[in-house]
Amino acid sequence: MENNIDIQNLSDKLINQIEATKDLSSLEEIRVSALGKKGEVTALLKKMGSIPAEDRPAFGAMVNKLRAEIEEKLENKKKVLEDAEFSKKMENEKIDITMPSKKQVVGTKHPLTHVIDELKDIFIGMGYQIAEGPEIETCYNNFDALNAPKDHPSRDVQDTMYITNDIILRSQTSPVQVRTMLENNPPIKVICPGRVYRADDIDATHSPVFHQLEGLVIGEGITMAHLKGALSDFVKNYFGKDTKIKLRPHHFPFTEPSCEVDVSCFVCGGKGCKTCKGEGWIEILGAGMVHPNVLKAGGIDPEKYTGFAFGMGIERIAMIKYDLNDLRLLYENDTRFLKQF
Ligand code: PHE
Repeated sequence: MENNIDIQNLSDKLINQIEATKDLSSLEEIRVSALGKKGEVTALLKKMGSIPAEDRPAFGAMVNKLRAEIEEKLENKKKVLEDAEFSKKMENEKIDITMPSKKQVVGTKHPLTHVIDELKDIFIGMGYQIAEGPEIETCYNNFDALNAPKDHPSRDVQDTMYITNDIILRSQTSPVQVRTMLENNPPIKVICPGRVYRADDIDATHSPVFHQLEGLVIGEGITMAHLKGALSDFVKNYFGKDTKIKLRPHHFPFTEPSCEVDVSCFVCGGKGCKTCKGEGWIEILGAGMVHPNVLKAGGIDPEKYTGFAFGMGIERIAMIKYDLNDLRLLYENDTRFLKQF
C-alpha cells in the first residue's frame, strides 16, 4: 500500500511539473529527472528486488503504467510547446503588407546625356542621321585617312592613347567621317556623338575621356555657305533664336578651308559677361570644308562632290549651357549635383 501512495505522489508531482513547464529545455530536464538512468521512475523499477515476490507483478504493472503515462504527458506537452514556439516565430516574422513601401529613388538623366539627346533632337530635326563608330580605332582612320601628316603633333604618345602602333583609342570623332563615307554614297548628312580619348591629365577643363559630336555633310555643290547656314540654324535652336555665329580662320588637316566657330554669348547677348569672360563670344566648335584627300580616302570623287564637317566638345557645350566652372562635376557622380538636371 505504501508503494501505491509513493507512485501516486510521484505521478501527481511529475504531472504538475509537466503542466507548469513553459519551455522545451525545462521539459527535457523533467524527462531526465523522471525517466533518465538516475530518474525517479527508473529508481522505482530498481526497487523491484526489495518488493515481496507476490506483490511484484502488481507493482511492476503500476510502475510501467506510470512510465507510460508520464511519457505520454511529456510527448503531448512537447507538442504544445513546439507549436507555441512556432507560432511565436511566425508572429515575429510576420510581414505587414499594409506598411508603406520603401521609397525607390529614381535618378535623372546625366547632364551629358541630356545635352547629347538635345543635340541629336535638333540635328535630326534638320535632317541628319546618327552615325556611329568604334572607340578603339585604327591610326589610319583617326589620322592618315584624315590627311594628318606623319609628323602631326596629335599623333604623339603624349597626346593620343596607343594600344599598339596602329591601334589607338580615338582622339576625335572625325574617323567616323571616313567610315561613313566608305559605307555610304552621297548625299551624306550625319552626326556622330561619341566618346573620345586623349592623354590629358584631369583638371577643371580637361579630361582623358570626353565626348564630341561630329557632323558631316557631303553632296553636289555643297559650299561654305551651307556650313554657315547649318551651324547658324543649329545655334539658334540650341542657344536661342537671337544667337549669332562668327567664323574665324583656323587649321585642321582634314578640312580646307578650316575655321573655329564662336557663338554670341547667350547670357549677355554679346555685351560681355562672366559666361563669355567679357568677350561677348564663346568658342564652341571647329569646322571646315572636307579636304579632297579625305573625300578620296572615303572613296568619294572630289571632282564631283564637296562637303563640310564640324566637331564640337559636348562637355564644353554642357559647361557653357549650365554655367559650370569645373568639368570634373560631370564625372564625380555626386547626386547633389546630378539631381539638379
Ligand atoms: N576633330 C576636330 C577636333 O577634335 C574637330 C573638327 C571636326 C574640326 C570636323 C573640323 C571638322 O578638334
